[in-house]
Amino acid sequence: MNETAHNKKLFIETVGCQMNVLDSELVVAALRQDGYELTPSMKEADTILFNTCSVREHAEEKIYSQLGRLKYSKDARPNLVIGVMGCMAQKDQKIIFRRAPHVDLIVGTGQLAEIPRLIDESRKGEKRQMAVSLGRKDGSRLEVSSSFQSYDPLRDPEMRPSPHQAFVRIMFGCDKFCTYCVVPTTRGPEQSRQPSDIRRESEALAAQGVKEITLLGQTVNSYKHTEEGRLYRMSDLLESLHDIEGIQRIKFVTNYPKDMTDDLLQAIRDLPKVSHYLHVPLQHGCDDMLKKMKRGYTVAEYRDMMHRIRETIPGVSVSSDFIVGFCGESDEAHQKSMDVVREFRFKNSFIFKYSERSGTKAADNYPDDIPDDVKKARNNEMLTLQNAISAEDNADFIGRTVEVLVEGPSKNAVKAEQNRPSNAGPDQLVGRSRCDRIVVFNGNPRLIGTIAHVSVQDCTPTTLMGNIVTQTHQHGSNMLPILQ
Ligand code: 5AD
Ligand code: SF4
Repeated sequence: MNETAHNKKLFIETVGCQMNVLDSELVVAALRQDGYELTPSMKEADTILFNTCSVREHAEEKIYSQLGRLKYSKDARPNLVIGVMGCMAQKDQKIIFRRAPHVDLIVGTGQLAEIPRLIDESRKGEKRQMAVSLGRKDGSRLEVSSSFQSYDPLRDPEMRPSPHQAFVRIMFGCDKFCTYCVVPTTRGPEQSRQPSDIRRESEALAAQGVKEITLLGQTVNSYKHTEEGRLYRMSDLLESLHDIEGIQRIKFVTNYPKDMTDDLLQAIRDLPKVSHYLHVPLQHGCDDMLKKMKRGYTVAEYRDMMHRIRETIPGVSVSSDFIVGFCGESDEAHQKSMDVVREFRFKNSFIFKYSERSGTKAADNYPDDIPDDVKKARNNEMLTLQNAISAEDNADFIGRTVEVLVEGPSKNAVKAEQNRPSNAGPDQLVGRSRCDRIVVFNGNPRLIGTIAHVSVQDCTPTTLMGNIVTQTHQHGSNMLPILQ
């Protein structure tokens, strides 16, 4: 028994998007069934897994340099199993063995269920095993789709961002083929999961005490699945999950601008558990660039969508992604991106320097011709502008009361806790408002996992700070307008 435990210590590092966080949770759950326990120390582990991201080169290079450093550990401990899973495994495949010959396993995003078996075989002496799905052009659509296995029923609460929050995948893959993006290759064809499976999984999570589910897909609002003769769109799915007891909030990421239909906006407005927050990446403010990116919409069409969103859901917040320094981006084109940041007043924007990815249409057709220092300067300029807007819009919340789903102790509180006796002062908690703003306040840890009302006193560009509004006032003095 002791020997088994001793032999089965897993270290897993996850980079990239929420999809990867979820994949790691599923893999850990499967390995736990096999008797593995997690260790936070690479040195203690006998199995090391990297769950990787290929969206930008930088993330890949960091993994390759970590793999390089592990060569010495592998020489010293030949029993150590080192695995690379996720997007980089699917994209680079054997290249990983070439660049890091001491790697034992390469497992693509669609083969994660194979990991326990492959680790076992590796321990028994099988060298260099690889399980990847078919490339997009390596078979019929059905063949390629089915080579990406669905793998979602196993869950591991310890791997979650917090015990009350969980991700639920509703879609696999992507079919949009934006010219800069590697995801349609690494995650395969778009496939929507069955509504009844999604519901069953969400119910099981609620039974484990989860209060907030975040539905995941590369383009969640493109969700479509026909089950027992009924077509479920994203709006129908939200409605069908809404009555699950225990779930207090439902979020979903990421949205595709062209698929933001009115039925979805109305569902968000009408279903009280659904977060009033939409992440709808615009990517660029210049039509020529959007065309080159093959995003499928113009700025004017995005503007129409924004009007529909804001008209239908008062108080909604919208966030975006932007790419700066895409192929041939002139100063003028960049200024158009700055203009849309000013115009649309996103809650926040994730801004990325363009990174050429082999195998994409942009890599094949357009030179990556914007120097890195120009990309960096444009990135900083846009970030400064976005931060100023976020600060201004957050300041509007001062004096208002917001409804917060309490997530846990704030990060600062966790750090402080390590340096102070446990009974010193009140606890600092963190949660999110219905429009997804981070809210920090002092309160009893018993509030974690519940909805609290917080009166906002101060803010930064990223955070609102406030005090709990007690519900026991006698003369309605707490009848502040409850906001998003
Ligand atoms: N270079 C830079 N950013 C990229 N993204 C996707 N591909 C690239 C790339 N090649 C960004 C997009 C996307 C986010 C997840 O990552 O903005 O929305
Ligand atoms: Fe990539 Fe475009 Fe699909 Fe998003 S919609 S994952 S950017 S191809």
